Amino acid sequence: MSKPAPIAAIRGFRDVLPDETRRWEALVGAARAMFGTYGFGEIELPVLERSELFARAVGETTDIVEKEMFAFRDRDDTSVALRPEATAGVVRAYLQNGLVHDDRQARLFYVGPMFRRERPQRGRYRQFHQIGAEMLGREDPLADAELLLLIRRYLDRVGAGGARLELNSLGDATCRPVYRERLREFGTAHLAGLCPDCHRRLERNPLRILDCKVPGCRAIVERAPVARDSLCAPCAEHFAAVRALLDQERVAYHVNPRLVRGLDYYVRTAFEIVSDGEGLGAQNAVGGGGRYDGLVAMLGGPDVPGLGFALGLDRLAMVAAPPAAEGPGPLAVILPLETRAVAPAFRLATRLRDEGLPVGVEPAGRSLKALLGVASKRRARLAVILGADELAAGRATVRNLVSSADRRQALDLDASGPELARWMRDEAAA
Ligand code: HAM
Repeated sequence: MSKPAPIAAIRGFRDVLPDETRRWEALVGAARAMFGTYGFGEIELPVLERSELFARAVGETTDIVEKEMFAFRDRDDTSVALRPEATAGVVRAYLQNGLVHDDRQARLFYVGPMFRRERPQRGRYRQFHQIGAEMLGREDPLADAELLLLIRRYLDRVGAGGARLELNSLGDATCRPVYRERLREFGTAHLAGLCPDCHRRLERNPLRILDCKVPGCRAIVERAPVARDSLCAPCAEHFAAVRALLDQERVAYHVNPRLVRGLDYYVRTAFEIVSDGEGLGAQNAVGGGGRYDGLVAMLGGPDVPGLGFALGLDRLAMVAAPPAAEGPGPLAVILPLETRAVAPAFRLATRLRDEGLPVGVEPAGRSLKALLGVASKRRARLAVILGADELAAGRATVRNLVSSADRRQALDLDASGPELARWMRDEAAA
């Protein structure tokens, strides 16, 4: 019989191993604590939604929807997609669950996997993870400033303070059409240098040429008019007010008039969090977000403004300070020296674990030396030895692997769980 071939994960999909999940836990824990102080509650959303939700929200002509969605027909012929982002889902949930009926305000945050069929490379995966937050029902500049301050404080807290905030204003339904026309004129004048995709974009959605990744198009687009020069008075005022509030709280930012986002729903404030630190390379956007005042209406709801952001957890883990210590090994490993000692060893491990102590238990059948080697390799502080003498005495020998001190037949196997746990803790601290 031939040996079955191993099965690898799908391209762009990866395993996150304990060293990394430990860092993620710290990042997510800090987010839960801090987002709470800004009034956000956590929402858990489906990973699968109707494709139409993203087509409408993110935009038919965006790369995300046009090229990168994992979309397929379900058995009942519904077109569904693995979510490429969560803002659309939050707004859907906000409408569907009637959150919109109160004072229209909601603050929701989420943590979870997103899916985009991009070309995988370091820091870019087809399944990646975001920590995001959405604020519904607020159109005042204070909301923008609050959100940006939250991001800044959070990045500082998790040791990613070196990441920069890039800020822009993209205009709104009033001034955007003016800008769109200026871009169309510019693009038409440079048609020969633009890729076929951009030719199509110029007809359907000229703003998308700003997001084209083809080098030739990028060179041309660098000279294109910027949104800021076409802002109407209310948009310019809004932007100035956001900036004044950020200045007041000393939140550093850099106005980047060329900043565009890969999603269509943004109006007015748009931003990105960029890290130049080692590790990320070309994929240097740690997060992004902005305002989406028309989105709720676009998804069939009333005219409710909104804004939000998402941080890429995979990338954030690469730039944030690692947690202080390496993951701890078990407090103790229990070593049965013979088969008869396996059941008492298991009993002891269960009682210690029930008391909340991290302990391991090894199978019998190896020499004491080999078993002690295993315990050291697992970075345990104590080795609990159960051999024939220990079984006869009803007391285990405990070796402190840090000091190499042996306490022969010292641990009373008949003691109560709390007594056992206390004894072990004291011994480990000794
Ligand atoms: P986004 O800029 O598309 O925005 O994604 C936010 C972040 O997710 C990026 O800055 C990046 O760190 C991470 N990310 C995106 N794609 C990948 C990938 N293929 N691999 C690894 N990380 C990735 C949004 O998704 C918006 N929904 C943000 C938002 C919320 N806007 C308003 N509210």
